[in-house]
Amino acid sequence: MPAVDLLAGLREIVGDTHVVTDPDSVAPYAQDWTRRWHGKPLAVVRPATVAQVSAVVRACAAAGVPLVPQGGNTGLVGAGVPQDGEVVLSMARLDSVGPLDPLGRTLMAGAGATLAQAQRAARSAGLDVGLDFSARDTATVGGIAATNAGGERVMRHGVARFRIRGLEAVLADGSVVRRMSGVSKDNTGYDLVQLLIGSEGTLGVITAVQLDLIRPHKIVGTALVAVRSVDDALTVLHAVQHDFTGIEAAEFFHHDGLQLVLEHERLARPFDRPHPLYLLFDLADDDGRPDAFEELTELLAGLDCVRDVCLVATAADRRRLWELRELQTEAVSAEGIPVKLDVALPLNQLSLFERRLAEVVREVARHAVPILFGHIAEGNVHVNLLNAVEEDADGAVTEAVLDLVASLGGSISAEHGIGLANRRWLPLTRSSADMSAMRAIKQALDPEGILSPGRMLPEPSRPAHKD
Ligand code: MLT
Ligand code: ZN
Repeated sequence: MPAVDLLAGLREIVGDTHVVTDPDSVAPYAQDWTRRWHGKPLAVVRPATVAQVSAVVRACAAAGVPLVPQGGNTGLVGAGVPQDGEVVLSMARLDSVGPLDPLGRTLMAGAGATLAQAQRAARSAGLDVGLDFSARDTATVGGIAATNAGGERVMRHGVARFRIRGLEAVLADGSVVRRMSGVSKDNTGYDLVQLLIGSEGTLGVITAVQLDLIRPHKIVGTALVAVRSVDDALTVLHAVQHDFTGIEAAEFFHHDGLQLVLEHERLARPFDRPHPLYLLFDLADDDGRPDAFEELTELLAGLDCVRDVCLVATAADRRRLWELRELQTEAVSAEGIPVKLDVALPLNQLSLFERRLAEVVREVARHAVPILFGHIAEGNVHVNLLNAVEEDADGAVTEAVLDLVASLGGSISAEHGIGLANRRWLPLTRSSADMSAMRAIKQALDPEGILSPGRMLPEPSRPAHKD
């Protein structure tokens, strides 16, 4: 079918104004946040209902034109941006929030609702989503489900798949699957909800999500602890977790990342003197100790590896400390386009990884500046390499880092996904049996390759895994 006929068909489904083709209006959908991934889509289509999503998918399938679902476009691996000639299926108008079931502790949300909107709805009922990260005002629940997003609360509440009870999705043939009964025990057949979570738009278009809400614990304070090394940070975390059960969110960042944040955001430095590494964590009131704060202060004071501590309780002070961590992404991006990798290491390999990383990077990209930060409780390191994009044109830098991660038994994609960025390296940590099973699933659910083709799975000609 010629492109003009498809566009006319799409206009009939969603209305003229919601089939966007003029380059200026298309631009924000065509490039991702990192500026590394972009394409020229045929059009951006903005359906408002699941019926419209289904009709759009059918029309694209009939025309043989692939489509890529897009939420808030906060992804970092090129999974949600178009390749040339694709249709961007923007989920922004499916932004309903509710109803909320306080008894069953679930909240319905359209795929285009932002995380912050869902959090507000949950909090107004004394509950919470249990997921949080800095892109909360833009990232959508559909995107969160599609990428199995993680973030800052994972150590307590798990990644997105633990916080999603059900969902609705349009499959490649336009059919709609809806698993939203809300019952938490349901062993009826294959678990399509969990299969679609983390499938990055390759198996279906997620149109609505039923969030599994948590009862939040009151946060009594936030601690920023300065130490020398990642091993020291783990020692502190271990000691604190031994004495307090309510540790929520444990993050780390280095001196150079903090410097960037302070310069770019013009924030006040947390301590008079600089330190190599910082551990940030929240303390909740699980233990019911009235003097928790004093006891935590005492515990930290007794640890040799602690160089400085800042303990705060008010919302404003806590926000101020959290900004030092959450604004790292923006501060790095303001410096230039980084090679951005998102890996996880077994905790006992974390310090070796940091040491070896510096050597490995020096060999492949002499001028690269590594900025590392992340979610230390999961061993999740966001590796940002400034001044390395040129050397990485053929993937040499990425390959060197991911080889190192694989050799240390880590994950080459902890929470950002595979998308276009990491697909070449999937066989590093997935066996040929794994790869065949994944290909079979893709082939069964999307035989024509209409949904986000080329994302996640490498071209079949890639060398096999070292089994
Ligand atoms: C974060 O933890 O800040 C996000 O995953 C974003 C990033 O890695 O830049
Ligand atoms: Zn992260």
